[in-house]
Amino acid sequence: MARSPDRAIWSTEWSHHSAGSLAIATTTAQSTGLAPPACGLPVPLLEVRELAVHFSSWHGPPWRRRERVVRAVDGVSFSVRPGETLGLVGESGCGKSTTARAIVNLVPPTAGEVLLDGARIDRLSAKAILPYRRRMQMVFQDPMASLNPRMTVGRTITEPMKIFGLYDRRTRQLETLRLMELVGLNPRFLNRYPHEFSGGQRQRIGIARALAAGPELIVCDEPVSALDVSIQAQVINLLMDLQQQFGLAYLFIAHNLAVVRHISHRVGVMYLGRIVELADAAELYRNPRHPYTQALLSAAPVPDPVRERTRERIVLQGEIGSPEYEPVGCPFADRCPLVEARCREEPQRLIGEEHLVACWKATLYEANPFADRLCD
Ligand SMILES: Nc1ncnc2c1ncn2[C@@H]1O[C@H](COP(=O)(O)OP(=O)(O)OP(=O)(O)O)[C@@H](O)[C@H]1O
Ligand code: SF4
Ligand SMILES: [Mg+2]
Repeated sequence: MARSPDRAIWSTEWSHHSAGSLAIATTTAQSTGLAPPACGLPVPLLEVRELAVHFSSWHGPPWRRRERVVRAVDGVSFSVRPGETLGLVGESGCGKSTTARAIVNLVPPTAGEVLLDGARIDRLSAKAILPYRRRMQMVFQDPMASLNPRMTVGRTITEPMKIFGLYDRRTRQLETLRLMELVGLNPRFLNRYPHEFSGGQRQRIGIARALAAGPELIVCDEPVSALDVSIQAQVINLLMDLQQQFGLAYLFIAHNLAVVRHISHRVGVMYLGRIVELADAAELYRNPRHPYTQALLSAAPVPDPVRERTRERIVLQGEIGSPEYEPVGCPFADRCPLVEARCREEPQRLIGEEHLVACWKATLYEANPFADRLCD
């Protein structure tokens, strides 16, 4: 196969350097434990206020057109502090990805505000948002789909530096090599294409690309869901390691409750476009107060086979509601084992100081039957 000009350039440049000449300590992805986030700062790094994203489309014949509105995200509020990981969990279709995409400006919000370091970024033009985009990057679920198959690893990682006007050409190339080492990729793979890598390696390329812009916040949308379990652990440990080294903040979206607990300082639980519970990770898993969170945790497998056989599960009745209808009261009312008439009449808002719950009955749950069930 003929080499593309870009590939040739990279090959030439690579011959001028050796991995050993880079004054960089190679990062080994190992479990580092959670670094404490920079708490107590007056301004959160990211603040999301009453964010709503509704998708509208028209259906039916021209004489009977009907608008269909999907309320994918419907009034979500949270903040992420510098150096903190906020986990976001919830069933498929509850609006996690749409929230993430609205934050990084990939879909326009219908209502609400997104602030980075105190500055509103939700209504900025493509040009005006560029400096903010540099500070918050995204890692996607499917590394193959999110990488350009016609770009070498080198070009993929260099691209954000070019877009954001970082460094001169030579420094960009050195930086690319440094990033490859940092995420555990051999710099000799610089001229390879995404299809020549395994899934885990491709996700490392995605992480290096995100790091190339020098972000303070990385929005990770199911970054390990498509990977084998053993590879998942490596990528999670790499993310934690990078957080410790660079003080990165993460918005971390995942289905796997154990993974979210492992990596997150705080966790938000989403249901039908809203956050129904938000608390410190250990507190949420020890003492889930919203009936939906309790059901989610009760359904998660436990590593201990004896406890797994005997554990109690909450089986939810009814169907997940449609995001096309705006519920008057609690969106969980149709499935909640504790529903009362009042639940269907009053909108439920997140209430609390540190442990926030959107359920007026939450105070009744003093004892959690699933205490510490995910501690292993
Ligand atoms: N571009 C779009 N147009 C119309 N509806 C959309 C669009 N994108 C998402 N939706 C709908 O918005 C809702 C939320 O989708 P979203 O992808 O955010 O969920 P999710 O929580 O990320 O799900 P999953 O866990 O499966 O990734 C779903 O009902 C989905 O069908
Ligand atoms: S408000 Fe009512 S329906 Fe909603 S979670 Fe609480 S008890 Fe259940
Ligand atoms: Mg998603």
